Amino acid sequence: MVAREDVIELAKRRGFFFGANGAYGGVAGFYTYGPNGAAVKDNLESAWRDRFTVRQGNMEIEAPTIMPEAVFEASGHLDGFDDMLVECPECGESHRADHLVEDDTDIEEAESIPIPEVEELIREHDLRCPACEAPLSDEPVEEFNLMFETSIGPGTGQTGYMRPETAQGIFVEFPRLKEYARNRLPFGVTQIGPAYRNEISPRKGIIRVREFTQAELETFIDPEADEPPLHEVADVEVRLYPATEQAADDGEAYTTTVGEAVEEGVVGSAWVGYYLGVAQEWYERIGVDTDRFRFRQHLPGELAHYAADCWDAESQVGAAGTAAGSSDGGEPRDEGDWIEITGFAYRSDYDLSKHAEGSGESFTVFKQYDEPETVERATVDPDMATLGPEFGGDAGAVADALRTLAERDPDAFDAGEVEVEVDGETHAVDAEVANFSVEEVTENGEHVTPHVVEPSFGVDRIVYTVIDHAYRTDEVDGEERTYLALDPEMAATDAAVFPLVSNDERLLDLADDVTADLRAAGLSVEYDDSGSIGRRYRRQDEVGTPFCVTVDRDGIEGDGPHTVTVRERDSARQVRVPVADVGAEIAALLDPEDDRAFEALAASYGEIETGVRTG
Ligand code: ATP
Ligand code: GLY
Repeated sequence: MVAREDVIELAKRRGFFFGANGAYGGVAGFYTYGPNGAAVKDNLESAWRDRFTVRQGNMEIEAPTIMPEAVFEASGHLDGFDDMLVECPECGESHRADHLVEDDTDIEEAESIPIPEVEELIREHDLRCPACEAPLSDEPVEEFNLMFETSIGPGTGQTGYMRPETAQGIFVEFPRLKEYARNRLPFGVTQIGPAYRNEISPRKGIIRVREFTQAELETFIDPEADEPPLHEVADVEVRLYPATEQAADDGEAYTTTVGEAVEEGVVGSAWVGYYLGVAQEWYERIGVDTDRFRFRQHLPGELAHYAADCWDAESQVGAAGTAAGSSDGGEPRDEGDWIEITGFAYRSDYDLSKHAEGSGESFTVFKQYDEPETVERATVDPDMATLGPEFGGDAGAVADALRTLAERDPDAFDAGEVEVEVDGETHAVDAEVANFSVEEVTENGEHVTPHVVEPSFGVDRIVYTVIDHAYRTDEVDGEERTYLALDPEMAATDAAVFPLVSNDERLLDLADDVTADLRAAGLSVEYDDSGSIGRRYRRQDEVGTPFCVTVDRDGIEGDGPHTVTVRERDSARQVRVPVADVGAEIAALLDPEDDRAFEALAASYGEIETGVRTG
C-alpha cells in the first residue's frame, strides 16, 4: 500500500492538488487543484452526475453557499454541528479530542463517546499534544461549532453561515421543488458544490479540509407507500460492517448481497440498501479497489442530529509513513487508514418538519386518495375573547399553536390544561378555552411530510481514494517507474502525442495533425515535445494518461502505410498503427461502450519489441 506522503508528493509535483495560498504562507485546510487534479475531479463529478442525476431521473439544482442564520437555527446545525475541541496549554494548538483518542488507543469511533468519557480517556492514557508533547490530562474538552459565520450586507447586516452541507440548499427550496416534481413522490434532487466546515484540525491533504465539494442526492419519499427498485441491485455484493459487528469482540466486516442485507434487516431501510448497491457499482466503475472498500454502519452515539440510521462508504488509503521502495527507503506499510468517503443517511422527516416549523411555510405534499375517506379530525376553535386579554400580542400565535397541537397530538387535550410553546416560551391554556372537538370529515387526500434518504458523497476524498488506489510502481527497461492505473474515465488526459525529434518540420506537422485528429474525436490530448521520450512517458505514466502516441520517421517515410506507435500505460506495450486509423482506434479503446481492447489492437497491427516490464 502506498504511503500518504508519496501520494501527496506526487499530487503536488504533477499538478493534482497542493496547499493553497503558498505565496502567503498558506492556511491549513485549503487546497488548490492543479490542472490534472481539476480534470480528474471534473471527470468524477461528471460520472456522478451521469449515475445519480441523469440515470436516476433526478433534478439537479445549484443553490447559494451562504445562507441566513434562520436556516441553520431550524436545521439544528447552530446547536448541534459540533466537534470535540481540546487546546494545548503550552503551544495553544487545537486538536480534535476524539481523534487523539483514536490515534493513541485501540478505540475506533471516539466521536460516539460522550465528552466526560473522552476527558477521562485522555487522563487515563496520559494523552499529549502531538505538536509539543505537553500533557492534556487537565484540559477541558469543549464542543466547537464547525460553521463559518459571516455577515450579509454592510453595517448591522444579517448573520449568515457558509453552508456546511449542500443538502440545506435543497431542503429550503422544497416548497418550489415539489412543484417542479408535479407534487408527486418519490422524487430526487441533486447538487454538486462546495461545503464549508471550520475543521479543528485539518489534515491528511484533501481528506480533511475546510472547503470541500459534496455531491448530494436528497430523495423525498412517502415512507408509507414508496419502495425503491431494489431488484436492480439485489445481487450486488457489498462488504458490510454493521454496528453489532463493531461492538462485538471478534466482530468483523463480511460480504453479502444488497438483497440479503435488506431482507435480513441488517440494513434497516430498503432505500438505504438500494443506494448502497448503486454506489457499490459506481465506485467499481470509477476505479475504487473493492478489496479496500466497505460500508460501515454508524454507532448509535455517532449519528448526526438529523439521522435515524446511517452507513458510511469507507475506503482504505495509505497511512502516514514511508512506503516500501519509496525514495527514502524505510519500513514497508501494509495497513492503511479507513476514511469515510460517503454517508448514506435515513434523515426521516426531520429536515422538512424543522423547516416547516422555522419558516411557517408548507413542506408537505398533498397525497390524493384513490377513493375519498371518512376520517376523524381533531380541531380547535380557540375563544379569542379569553385568549386576547390573557396573552395580548401573542394571542394569535397561541391560537395557531393550539391548532397545530390538535393535529399532531389530540390526546394532549384530554387534560384540563394544555401547554403550547410560542417563541421559546411555554403558555398554559385552559382546554375549554381551546374548544377542542373531534369531527368526522370526508377527505380526498392528506398532506404528507416526505422522508428523506440521502447519499452524500465527499468528492475530494473520492478523488484522493481514486489516486491512492491507482498508484503503482514497477520496472520498465530496468528503471523504476511510478504510474497511476486510473480508469480512463477518470484520467485527466486521454492521450499524449510526442514528436520523436523537434527539428523535422514534416514530423512536427504530422504530430500536430495527429493531435488535431484525436481532439476532433473528442479526446483530451496533451502535446509534449520536451525531453527524452523516456522522460515524456514517465510524466504521462505518473498522471495516469492511458495512451501515448509517438510520431517518428515511419509516419512520414517509406512506401507502406505511414504509422505511429501507440503505447499502453499499464503494460508499456507498443503497437504500430496507421496514421489514418489512430484517432478512431484510440477513441474505441477509451469508449466504455466499445469492447475494443489493446490486445486486439496488437493483434490487428502487430506489436513492436519494447523494454521488459517487471513488477
Ligand atoms: P468526518 O467524521 O470524517 O468528519 P463527517 O461524518 O462529518 O466526516 P459527513 O457530515 O457525513 O462527514 O459529510 C458527508 C461527506 O462529506 C463525507 O463522507 C466526506 O466525504 C465529506 N466530508 C465531510 N467533511 C469533510 C472535510 N472536512 N473535508 C473533506 N471532505 C469532507
Ligand atoms: N449532508 C450530509 C452531511 O454533510 O453531513
